Amino acid sequence: MKITKEDISNILSKVNFPSSSSGIVDSGSLKNVQIFGDEIILDIEISNPTLQYKKKIEALCIEAIHDMLSDMKNVKINFAIKEVKKDIKIQGNPIPNVKNIIAVSSGKGGVGKSTIAANLSTALAELGYSVGIVDADIYGPSMPIMFDLVGEIPQAIELEGKKKMKPPSNYNVKMVSMGFFTEANQAVVWRGPMASKALNQLIWDTHWGALDYLIIDLPPGTGDIHLSLVQAIPLTGAIVVTTPQEIALADAKKGVNMFQMDSIDVPVIGIVENMSYFTPEELPENKYYIFGKDGGKDLAEQLNLNLLGQIPIVQSLREASDGGRPAVLQENTQISKSFINLAKNVVDSVNQRNVDLPDTEAVKITNMKGCSN
Ligand SMILES: Nc1ncnc2c1ncn2[C@@H]1O[C@H](COP(=O)(O)OP(=O)(O)OP(=O)(O)O)[C@@H](O)[C@H]1O
Ligand SMILES: [Mg+2]
Repeated sequence: MKITKEDISNILSKVNFPSSSSGIVDSGSLKNVQIFGDEIILDIEISNPTLQYKKKIEALCIEAIHDMLSDMKNVKINFAIKEVKKDIKIQGNPIPNVKNIIAVSSGKGGVGKSTIAANLSTALAELGYSVGIVDADIYGPSMPIMFDLVGEIPQAIELEGKKKMKPPSNYNVKMVSMGFFTEANQAVVWRGPMASKALNQLIWDTHWGALDYLIIDLPPGTGDIHLSLVQAIPLTGAIVVTTPQEIALADAKKGVNMFQMDSIDVPVIGIVENMSYFTPEELPENKYYIFGKDGGKDLAEQLNLNLLGQIPIVQSLREASDGGRPAVLQENTQISKSFINLAKNVVDSVNQRNVDLPDTEAVKITNMKGCSN
């Protein structure tokens, strides 16, 4: 029996894009089918250029074809990237020379936002990008400790007649924190508008220079104060951190919903699952799923978001944060590799977002340093 293009189209009409109800054929994304003997070549248009995504589509198509036509051994796919033009709403004024502003957020407290934000920033700097971080947790700033910058007093500089703050920096990451202006252990009581004004000053009165990424470590929650903080910043996107635990996942969902509200409308770049499992450093093969397995991964699938990384619980990660030297700087350890991978996935997802929403500038790498994997 001769196999026709229509046969292949019919088979592929049952295939949906990964984590989506949109079909490859229905959506008009299958552009061409060619058949040469036992070889099939498909042209498919996609809007997500990541390798991970292409591999998933490839596996789905091959499986569908092999199920019906076991003789068709060779299935090849050529991917074309679709340009989707959309208007995006940027909150607040853009910061000159800052290409991407990414908020690290969570619904629930204590899930590791600050740890992820500090290591992600340092990992991006290790990959050669120019990076800054804002400790927006004005209630409990923790970045000065994590970057060994406690007691640092930012210098004032004058720029075009305006006083600006020169951000202290360590590990090639420029950082500002309310912690530089408040006494340690001093409880700061801010109401929403005051908090967002303080945060605004922290961001706009700093001379950042040219940055590829500005990472914002947000305080926990999705309340009014949090909303006014988020609305004040011209965010490129948000990362939501969660543990795999049921109770954290429910809060993470609220976090995602908050960014997707009409008045906020910030794209969610993806989910980071933290504390995915415990691994004793001397027995790296052993994994104990203390807070449950794959909760963040499942949530990402359910919400059709990218899973950016699964970070294990490792004692030296906590020690590194407390000791003021982010764990990603460790030589070739499991945890440092996890963070470098996380950073690469963030770069991919932000690039993808910038393809989908072309109004903001795509990221260009400024200089490449060696990275460990
Ligand atoms: N993967 C991990 N392995 C080991 N310890 C971790 C891990 N992630 C976070 N921690 C530790 O858990 C504690 C809470 O983390 P962190 O302060 O980053 O959370 P947070 O979400 O920023 O908290 P908050 O909501 O208070 O801002 C810290 O002591 C941190 O060192
Ligand atoms: Mg924190």
